[in-house]
Amino acid sequence: MAKKRQGSKHDQVQVTTMDYKRKRPKAENPVKIQDLTLRDGHQSLFATRGRTEDMIPVAEMMDKVGFWAVEVWGGATFDTMHRFLNEDPWERLRTLKRYFKSTPFSMLLRGQNLVGYRNYPDDVAEAFVDRAAANGMDVFRTFDALNDYRNFETVVKGIKKAGKHFQGCICYTMTEPRMGGDVYNLDYYVKKAKALESMGADSICIKDMAGLIAPYDAYDLIKALKQAVKAPIHLHSHFTSGMASMSHLKAIEAGVDILDTCMSPYAFRTSHPAVEPLVMALLGTNRDTGFDIRLLAKINEVLEKEILPKYRHLLDDTKVSIIDINVLLHQTPGGMLSNLVNQLREMNALDKLDQVYEELPRVRKELGQIPLVTPTSQIVGIQTVNNVLFDDKKERYKMITAQVKDLCYGLYGKTAVPIDPKVQKKALKGYPRGEKPITCRPADVLKPELKDVQKDVGGLAKDLDDQLVCALYPVTGRRFLKWKYGIEEAPDSVKAKTLDAVKAEEERVRKAKAGDLIEKKPKKGPPKGLNLRTFKVFVDNEYFEVGVEEGAGGTPVVSYVQPGAASQPAQVAQTAAPPPPPDSVPAAAAEGDVEGKPLTAPMPGLIISVAVKVGDTVQEGDPVLVLEAMKMENSIPAPVSGTIKAVYFGSGDSVSKDDVICVIG
Ligand code: CO
Repeated sequence: MAKKRQGSKHDQVQVTTMDYKRKRPKAENPVKIQDLTLRDGHQSLFATRGRTEDMIPVAEMMDKVGFWAVEVWGGATFDTMHRFLNEDPWERLRTLKRYFKSTPFSMLLRGQNLVGYRNYPDDVAEAFVDRAAANGMDVFRTFDALNDYRNFETVVKGIKKAGKHFQGCICYTMTEPRMGGDVYNLDYYVKKAKALESMGADSICIKDMAGLIAPYDAYDLIKALKQAVKAPIHLHSHFTSGMASMSHLKAIEAGVDILDTCMSPYAFRTSHPAVEPLVMALLGTNRDTGFDIRLLAKINEVLEKEILPKYRHLLDDTKVSIIDINVLLHQTPGGMLSNLVNQLREMNALDKLDQVYEELPRVRKELGQIPLVTPTSQIVGIQTVNNVLFDDKKERYKMITAQVKDLCYGLYGKTAVPIDPKVQKKALKGYPRGEKPITCRPADVLKPELKDVQKDVGGLAKDLDDQLVCALYPVTGRRFLKWKYGIEEAPDSVKAKTLDAVKAEEERVRKAKAGDLIEKKPKKGPPKGLNLRTFKVFVDNEYFEVGVEEGAGGTPVVSYVQPGAASQPAQVAQTAAPPPPPDSVPAAAAEGDVEGKPLTAPMPGLIISVAVKVGDTVQEGDPVLVLEAMKMENSIPAPVSGTIKAVYFGSGDSVSKDDVICVIG
């Protein structure tokens, strides 16, 4: 660097020419490293499906590396563990603590959202932080999706009371391709850091959840923060866009104190830079991590050979490229983009992706230019998809999710710029808490919930930890407790895969690819009829003779079986001609003898509640059920007035798009 830098000598990276092969000098100011392998690493790459039993084999070795902390909990782990892995989230903490004897534990805490997707009342927040600390948590990395630190007040009190480390986050976001603009500029971040310091932050983290921070912006930002506040500065960045390793290096040059990395098998792609190249890059400098590269290699070998084969099927192998160019183009978190793509795919609307990219910045702006991080990335993302799919030329925001209504009411906190008044008014029409938005701290309007949960779950919950699972996740939490205490048997889908089973599966795939598998016997078809016509079909240079016969109705009939609809009494048969819109399928054809207008699921999801039962009368537009799709709740209205003739699904059931949920006659 030709330009002489400001700041203390401590900040500058000095390369020594000493023979560090024989004697590695102890660095004057080593960069501290937090490892994310066991939380954000597998959350980013394997949909948070890492199991505790697969963390134990490396835990003791990882404890010896010298990490500043290991992130093992929080974020999506709590949700995924009880929902998909049949694991008690609290138990993971206690188990891992037996192996990590000296390295502090760190968790990602979503402020007053805790490890869920909405603001919980103070009594739940207090109990959660207290129990997390008691179960072994040391560093509470706390963030709020709106950077509204009023949402920190309750949890910070709890963290401090328990004598634990409060790391305050600033969610890094942008509205332009580089840091700057009217909202998220240097001044914004410095002010936020000062606010965190005055709340007693033990360290301050720039949380770049989407991998958007550019190397030279990282340099300027860290430099400015180091000058503005005393607390250590921590940078968290994802590799998604491909810039994170460069940003790390520039952050080191600007004097960053702590960086986040993963063990290399869990690094890169939407995860984080790997630790090993950083260790080597800093070797012999005044910021040398001091880590033993051979120990890291040993850990990698176990992860690579014994652990990762069990998760390989979860890796996104649809792309060769390890970076996501779309993130650079749209400045939007990679995880959010892949969620949008999945959501569109499930609704057979992938062709609308470009419209979604166009609508997204518009929706974000109308909703107060909020940062895009859980849960706001889902809130903005799903509303965007809803707008693209359900709006028409006359009306926008036709299907507003419950979470957007909450956001407009002020339940998530204060947005960076005011919400568009037109959108806000529409969202709050008939909103149960009132049509006038609040300006106070959101939790001030939330009634305590823990007592009610305790009453509701009764004997099912054996202690406060169990009750908290239900307070955070009412539907899936209860289901988990039933598995936990053997009241219901857990389905196979939540059970662990063994390495042997994975190897057997890989062997089958290998054989199939090599053509060594015995061919399945062809299925016996119906007898050939008189109207059979033969066609010549050419595929590339191969020639086939194919017999085609008309079905009874004149058009070729294809049986259409909906995925996940096995529990339904009957399947919808659709013709091979373009399928009719779902609401024109006569109910009699769809559901046996019940006549009337079917109410179909507009999107795949989990039914949270059904407000009607057979025999109830409803008016057109009355809310009939709440459907959770991509964690957002959608109130589904009655398409017509009438009497409920049949209800086919209940709370806790999963539905596919176009499944008939009930029939109104
Ligand atoms: Co992250």
